[in-house]
Amino acid sequence: MIFRRNQIFVSILILSFLIIGQACKKEVIDVSIPVPDVKVQITDKELFDLSVPNDGYTFFEDGNTIAGVTPSPHGNFRLKFNAEAASALSSDGKLPDGAQFPDNSIIVKEILTGSDISFYAIMQKQPGDVNAASGWVWGEYEADGTVFIGVDKKGSSCTGCHSENPNRDLTRTFSLH
Ligand code: HEC
Repeated sequence: MIFRRNQIFVSILILSFLIIGQACKKEVIDVSIPVPDVKVQITDKELFDLSVPNDGYTFFEDGNTIAGVTPSPHGNFRLKFNAEAASALSSDGKLPDGAQFPDNSIIVKEILTGSDISFYAIMQKQPGDVNAASGWVWGEYEADGTVFIGVDKKGSSCTGCHSENPNRDLTRTFSLH
């Protein structure tokens, strides 16, 4: 009788060790593969501040003033590309048809009233940003940085027109000008 009880006790003990062993093993496996959850999120101020200075930017058509054409919602403008965006342009200064801008490209449309900048319309290629729409972050600002259309609008008033044909990676200039 005593012998049997001991046997049951030992069996339960072994079983417990096995269960604890399995549980620990599982836990070790779970914590050994941490999955980073890093999201990019540029603010309106950061996007504006990256877009105002001309350092590192290349101007489209030598910085000449260009007249917007239908269906442009803007009048006269100048266009500039940061280094990442400029790296995708061919020798004629245009994005080749079917090509894509690399991530971190910034394209700034300086909208003019007379010879003064009245608005900045900006596209930043950043597919990982929480506010990206069709791979780009979209923002429009007054000359002093006042937000006109913030990045949090997720390009809702921009992408419809920018995805119309013809477009090159969502940009409209190269086929129209
Ligand atoms: C009704 C059509 C339309 C809407 C809406 C529109 N755009 Fe555009 N956009 C154009 C056209 C057309 C061009 C080409 C240049 C031109 O003729 O004005 C352009 C050019 C640009 C460019 C220069 C790069 C390129 O695509 O050639 C930027 C940057 C830009 N727009 C940003 C914006 C942002 C930001 C919004 C929304 C807040 C917006 N646009 C809304 C039509 C539109």
